Amino acid sequence: MTVIAIDGPAASGKSTVAKLVASKLGYLYIDSGAMYRVVTYLWLRKFAKASDADEKNLAELLKNLDLRLEENSKRVYANDEDLSEAIRANEVSRNVSYIASFKIVRERLVELQRKIAANRDVVMDGRDIGTVVFPDAALKVYMIASPRVRAQRRLKDLQSKGENIELENLIGEIEARDKLDSERKESPLRKADGAIEINTDAMTIDEVVSKIASEIIL
Ligand code: CDP
Repeated sequence: MTVIAIDGPAASGKSTVAKLVASKLGYLYIDSGAMYRVVTYLWLRKFAKASDADEKNLAELLKNLDLRLEENSKRVYANDEDLSEAIRANEVSRNVSYIASFKIVRERLVELQRKIAANRDVVMDGRDIGTVVFPDAALKVYMIASPRVRAQRRLKDLQSKGENIELENLIGEIEARDKLDSERKESPLRKADGAIEINTDAMTIDEVVSKIASEIIL
């Protein structure tokens, strides 16, 4: 079993690259962020406001949740409901870091991440994959890019799905999420020991994929 862990801040290109690396090597791609997004989406649907979240109601929500990732995380199901598109809404992005800061959420999702990856060759991306979920991963990558470049990439994604948002607002939202993700008590976002850092500002997707694939062969 070989694990490639790819961590980094919001919209740094992790998932695009992770999917391509997985397909190049014939590994399974696991999108850990999609799991935090599902919990956030379900919370918002039931309780409307993320800021109202509390351990007890989150525990209840998690207890009743059967979360499944299919086709290299292309499709995401919660109790057989397909939430693959719904979890990408910017409303979910805006609230996910708060929900992901709860210990009970992290414990449950990390357990699931380890279970799905058991005895398989995987590429998993997220915030704490190299630090907490798989500290012994064969290769750890920490992907970064400037907030403006990340916001421009995310804006393109959102616009292609008909969501309109100002670039400056999106930069603010991405920075706010980075701050919450890096400053939280439970498994904060940071570069794992032994991780290679790749700044993707001036790199094409193919260049990043080749760089990672070459590291695993060495
Ligand atoms: O693709 P993007 O960078 O927007 O984020 P994502 O990978 O879908 O993750 C969404 C959010 O889930 C992050 O901002 C984190 O708050 C949380 N997350 C986490 O805490 N730990 C992970 N392993 C993955 C995501």
